[in-house]
Amino acid sequence: MKTKILKMLNESEDFLSGQQLCETFGVSRTAVWKVIDQLKKEGYEIEAVRNKGYRLVGRPDLLSKSEIESRLKTDTMGRPVVYYEETDSTNTRAKEAGEEGMAEGTLFVADRQSAGKGRRGRQWSSPSGENIYMTLLLRPQINPSKASEMTLLMALAVADGIKKCTGENVGIKWPNDVIIGGKKVCGILTEMSTEIEYINYVVIGVGINVNQETFPEEIENVATSLKLAVGDMVDRAALTAEVMESFERIYRKFLESEDLAGVREEYESMLLNKNQKVRVLEPGHEYEAVALGITETGELIVQTPDGEVQHVYAGEVSVRGVYGYV
Ligand code: BTN
Repeated sequence: MKTKILKMLNESEDFLSGQQLCETFGVSRTAVWKVIDQLKKEGYEIEAVRNKGYRLVGRPDLLSKSEIESRLKTDTMGRPVVYYEETDSTNTRAKEAGEEGMAEGTLFVADRQSAGKGRRGRQWSSPSGENIYMTLLLRPQINPSKASEMTLLMALAVADGIKKCTGENVGIKWPNDVIIGGKKVCGILTEMSTEIEYINYVVIGVGINVNQETFPEEIENVATSLKLAVGDMVDRAALTAEVMESFERIYRKFLESEDLAGVREEYESMLLNKNQKVRVLEPGHEYEAVALGITETGELIVQTPDGEVQHVYAGEVSVRGVYGYV
């Protein structure tokens, strides 16, 4: 009932009558008042006017289960949300749940991580009250060799979600860094458990720098947050829900063809490297080329100065912009 009342308050500009709430939920006025009181204690500013009812006038940037669930418009993604004020890593929680048989679409969200994991064994700094740390549990019935393509799907969903929430010009640095103003705003870490023939589960962990205002010196040239880029606070729960909605749409297309064919055009429209010079860093071999787009399986298509077209595999090489990070 709390989630539903919050959803109604969020969606209504006008007062919600107390009487109507009682009738909708078949409960007493006291029961409704208790829920309102609980929401106030969580930091929601709710105006209560006799004969008019309740109206939401201010909300905290809270990442609670009900705050996220009340905004979700999806069928399966983010259903349910498992929320932690603090955990070591949402990827670890999601993998445990994967082993225990929890359903596809379950989303693990934390306000703070004490041992956030980045790619290549790095740490992912995860302070409280500012950012999004979430991991989605999936059970796609596809060949395990295709699972790595799902990281690109999530990058696209995050970029699309940010664009819809903030209107900001956001792009992707192949394969899965989400970039604003030349700096990284989101990192994605995909882990999985597979047999030779099938996937047990895939977990996609997403860290979005949302309202963080300062970064350590070592990364301040390459990392930013939405608040720094937009100049205003961004609602973490709304963005989480928006990313889930985009992911659901994109994932459906992916499952139809079991590759990126159906989302390739959309991905390329956000690909910052497209038609740009890139430096391809292969172990023991570096070269410059122009990025043309991606293949249906997510490799970067590049053309070398002598006209040769090559496919660059993520994981084996990394790509840098010639004039900077992107
Ligand atoms: C990167 O190195 O770019 C990937 C960073 C991924 C961070 C996210 S935060 C939520 C999830 N839980 C983790 O421990 N890591 C991922």
